[in-house]
Amino acid sequence: MRILVPGGAGYIGSHVVRALHDRGDTPVVFDSLKSGRRTNLPEASSRGGSVPLFHGDVRDRAALDAAFAAEGPFDAVVHFAAEKAAGASMTDPQRFTETNVVGSTNLVHAALAAGCHRLVFSSTAAVYGEPRRVPIDERHPTEPANWYGHTKLAVERLLGWYGRLTPLKSVALRYFNAAGLDPAGRILHQEPAATNLIPVVLEVAAGLRDGPVRVFGDAYDTPDGTGVRDYVHVSDLATAHLAALDDLAADASTAGAHLALNLGTGDGHSVHDVLAAARRITGREIPSVVVPPRPGDPARVYASAEAARERWGWAPRHSGLDELISTSWAAYAPPA
Ligand SMILES: NC(=O)c1ccc[n+]([C@@H]2O[C@H](COP(=O)([O-])OP(=O)(O)OC[C@H]3O[C@@H](n4cnc5c(N)ncnc54)[C@H](O)[C@@H]3O)[C@@H](O)[C@H]2O)c1
Repeated sequence: MRILVPGGAGYIGSHVVRALHDRGDTPVVFDSLKSGRRTNLPEASSRGGSVPLFHGDVRDRAALDAAFAAEGPFDAVVHFAAEKAAGASMTDPQRFTETNVVGSTNLVHAALAAGCHRLVFSSTAAVYGEPRRVPIDERHPTEPANWYGHTKLAVERLLGWYGRLTPLKSVALRYFNAAGLDPAGRILHQEPAATNLIPVVLEVAAGLRDGPVRVFGDAYDTPDGTGVRDYVHVSDLATAHLAALDDLAADASTAGAHLALNLGTGDGHSVHDVLAAARRITGREIPSVVVPPRPGDPARVYASAEAARERWGWAPRHSGLDELISTSWAAYAPPA
């Protein structure tokens, strides 16, 4: 399949691009390189050509049309391009609206205009908001607690309606906490301005960020009092994207064609679990300090990914805590 991948030079997108390339599909990346890196993409080698990179912005409809015209026709789009820092979405909502809502709408319209009718969309657990129960399945109410989550839910709703009103068929994948790096060490991506726990911990371990690591609250109703989150390996996310593409390609129906599925492990790790594993794996001290909890931070967030398992037989294979941390450490460890 020939696949356009907006945001494919970023953290998760580059792992999906690599998985597509590995299985003989032809990904073409469309990316502004705001946070993505050309070095995340496969270079030409004896195993095949390099992945083309079309430098463009999803807010620019003309650039999208140009990419479809120059690089198409495409069998599908896998759409990662977004602003993702939930905190920043509350102070700069316009930037999130423009990239996530307007950009995604431009992309859908450009795809439809070019006759490309299959799309996989990066959604998020943030569409659920404060958990009313765990594990969170797809029937859990969607009440985002930040503007970032709202922008993703708005796109999901557009995709749902367009599945009824146009030939578009789509799958929204609601990731929980993406973590880890390519187990083969081919993508050594360091998260720019990291806010997620594992990269923050590893930056402190590597001396790239001043410590101590701040632990936001240790009096939650969890086994050790710190917050519990569901960390899922990017290679496992990549496998699910391949399954979603195959599902869209196999399904002959053209009506009511939108699906939203969770991707998580069904399990969680506490902040203390992550710190302890990171200290053991890196051999570094990694100082930490408990500070007051952040308002609105839930005690426990973890997924039910039963629906993805039932539909695709999908199951995480690389999402053990040690593999999540050790594969990431490859990008942060100073050379010996
Ligand atoms: N990382 C997570 O834990 C997580 C969890 C849930 C959902 N997501 C979603 O997954 C997707 C990928 O996230 P990521 O962690 O790989 O982030 P990332 O920042 O590494 O990747 C985003 C990519 O999109 C590109 N981009 C940003 N704005 C663009 C624009 N206007 N036009 C074109 N390209 C643009 C960036 O350069 C980058 O390559 C995002 O949609 C994010 O919301 C991520």
